Amino acid sequence: TVQAKEGEDSAQLLADIEGVIGQCRRCALCEGRTNVVPGFGNPAARVMLVGEAPGKNEDLQGRPFVGAAGHYLTDLLALAGLSRDEVFIANVLKCRPPSNRDPHPDEIVTCTPYLRDQVRAIGPEFLVTMGNFSTKFILKTERGITRLHGQVTMAGRFKVFPVYHPAAALYDPTKQVAIEADFRRLGELLKG
Ligand code: URA
Repeated sequence: TVQAKEGEDSAQLLADIEGVIGQCRRCALCEGRTNVVPGFGNPAARVMLVGEAPGKNEDLQGRPFVGAAGHYLTDLLALAGLSRDEVFIANVLKCRPPSNRDPHPDEIVTCTPYLRDQVRAIGPEFLVTMGNFSTKFILKTERGITRLHGQVTMAGRFKVFPVYHPAAALYDPTKQVAIEADFRRLGELLKG
């Protein structure tokens, strides 16, 4: 855990956390990475979104959701009345798994203390978990995203709002309808 130094604000604390993540060699995924992808966005975000793991474009650029799924995510955020620079986007894993395979359970255990630190530093009102890996990690549930999407579940002081993974919705018209409705709903929840 990266502790806040005295007088440090959330932006400085996040920068410290990113510094630690940038040096990480706690699992084998560090061997294959071009860049670590700690996360990106507003340190004071009301909405923090959590995906699965960096893909090829993210690994090359060091930023989350910059490929096709990321362009779609930008459109989805607009449906909620949000721009990318007012939210914070992170992933369960900070390094790209080979050929974008699923995260392994031991990688999730090793990497997620960073995500916890980020969530604590940002203190968002909403945690939007995208897809099964982030939803299961944040909600400690075995329930799938099909059952959970579009509903708020409290986890401590956070409102957790699961949605399908944008990459999954991109190629499945049924999920596309659902995820777009969910982001519109998020926009309504934000208006209160
Ligand atoms: N998919 C994810 O889960 N995260 C990214 O950063 C990009 C694609």
